[in-house]
Amino acid sequence: MSKILVTGATGHLGAAVTNFLLQKTDASNISILVRDPAKAEGFKTKGVNIHVGDYDNSEALLKAFDGVDKLYLVSGLAHNRGEQHENVINAAKKAGVKQILYTSFQRKTEASDSPIGFIAESHLYTENVLKASGVIYTILQHGLYADIIPMFAGAHLLQSKAIYLPAGEGKTAFATREDFAETGANILLDETDKFDNQSIELAGSEAISWADIAAMISKVTGETISYVNPPVSEFVETLTKAGAPAEMAGLVAGFSQAIGQGEFEGTNGILENILRRKPATVEEYLKGVYGKA
Ligand SMILES: NC(=O)c1ccc[n+]([C@@H]2O[C@H](COP(=O)([O-])OP(=O)(O)OC[C@H]3O[C@@H](n4cnc5c(N)ncnc54)[C@H](OP(=O)(O)O)[C@@H]3O)[C@@H](O)[C@H]2O)c1
Repeated sequence: MSKILVTGATGHLGAAVTNFLLQKTDASNISILVRDPAKAEGFKTKGVNIHVGDYDNSEALLKAFDGVDKLYLVSGLAHNRGEQHENVINAAKKAGVKQILYTSFQRKTEASDSPIGFIAESHLYTENVLKASGVIYTILQHGLYADIIPMFAGAHLLQSKAIYLPAGEGKTAFATREDFAETGANILLDETDKFDNQSIELAGSEAISWADIAAMISKVTGETISYVNPPVSEFVETLTKAGAPAEMAGLVAGFSQAIGQGEFEGTNGILENILRRKPATVEEYLKGVYGKA
């Protein structure tokens, strides 16, 4: 049985991957890399091996990866994450890790002038470093998490009754973070070579627009929620005037524009195949978030 290490295991995705692994294999096969061991007490109690380390700390990474066969590398969030991921990949190669799964992003284009170019660049850099490393790679090109919908729709949606985003009629094949996590766990536990040196586009089975999402939330809550599609400049100005940090306004504007361009609209049956069941739908997810008890 392969020895598996999951990074980012005190974050949402890494924790979910680790929990799925715990359901499917013995805890003695599972290690996690965390920055703060206090946040990993629950996993420690379950028998998971805990390693403390940062993507910046090559020495700690090398120690953590000793004896590991498969690594699930959760992409970071820092401005220098491309270099951080490179550090992780170099340490994994040096330690003799046989396979690295990397959580990248779904896309239609790789144009540098894309509205999400600032996010894409470090993912593409990491993919190239990983492919050139000689370690077996499995690049998970994750679509957008359904879990970001409440954040994009706004914390006060039920008061404002409007989703305000410059995403036009663009459609997105959202899938839940839980389903991306279980897919990753299934790939980690697969002992064949069918996922070796593959880039796999993972997304939900159906692409929907923000107008569709507004209709779904209306159905779930019994309130009439509309979708408003402002010009990008107006959107950024409105958010900034409301006190949102410029970086956050730029991030949501960039993703909304990319959604408008259909960047995340691709559907295929791969997620469903690897899950060996239907993925959760956005409507099911929204019922869990907005449904009345
Ligand atoms: N597809 C999408 O819709 C989507 C949406 C959001 C994010 N993402 C990407 O997917 C990743 C996972 O999402 P998530 O929701 O699980 O995010 P999250 O909850 O913020 O988890 C990120 C994890 O990465 C760890 N991490 C970050 N920098 C690190 C470093 N330098 N060294 C070691 N560990 C580090 C964090 O450690 P700590 O626990 O110590 O903070 C955390 O556990 C994100 O980091 C982001 O790149 C994708």
